Amino acid sequence: MMEKKKAIGIIGSPRKNGNTTLLTNELLDLLKDSFEIEKIFLKDLNINPCEECYHCMENEECSIKDDMQVLYPKLKEAQVIILSSPIFMGGVNSYMRAFMERTWHLRKGQLKGKTGSYIIVGRRDIGSGTNEMEEYLSRLQVNKIAGVLGFGFYEGDVLKDEEALKNIQRLSSQIISLNQNKSETINQLL
Ligand SMILES: Cc1cc2nc3c(=O)[nH]c(=O)nc-3n(C[C@H](O)[C@H](O)[C@H](O)COP(=O)(O)O)c2cc1C
Repeated sequence: MMEKKKAIGIIGSPRKNGNTTLLTNELLDLLKDSFEIEKIFLKDLNINPCEECYHCMENEECSIKDDMQVLYPKLKEAQVIILSSPIFMGGVNSYMRAFMERTWHLRKGQLKGKTGSYIIVGRRDIGSGTNEMEEYLSRLQVNKIAGVLGFGFYEGDVLKDEEALKNIQRLSSQIISLNQNKSETINQLL
């Protein structure tokens, strides 16, 4: 049997049972038969913001030796990268922003061919959240799929957002079909 490709969900919410996590869990659950799943809570890691030292201009690595060093190989190994963030003050939250900044040296096509998408959850006004995610994934040069936007405030609210849940199903189907290998596709056509 062929080894499953990896799908990684990177969660910026500090709430491990919060709305962003719940939507991410829904997605990863739908992907688990097709991919080996890994879920990362950025809050569990020590990730500092970019220091703007420009070490990565000359070297394909980040000079800051913190837990991002554990994440870099995971990003390179994964076929599917999902970024999940709550909306704080009209954009992605600080955990997610620090993570994004720290991947600047991966913008030169190192992650090309992978599938990328995102989940964002706000109470009411997502501000620039979609843009930030779209811009980020464009910079990584991954194959980008439209993300999912959920609404909710208290933990669990988002599970009442039927449109978001429907969109999670849409996203999972797109991810699976984009990554199907040719023989599977041919089998389906036969
Ligand atoms: C510091 C802070 C700022 C927030 N700013 C916004 C905002 O600008 N727009 C919005 O719609 N919701 C905002 N919210 C609400 C959260 O996005 C909302 O509660 C969301 O469900 C949190 O996701 P989580 O449960 O995954 O952490 C804010 C919450 C906090 C704590």
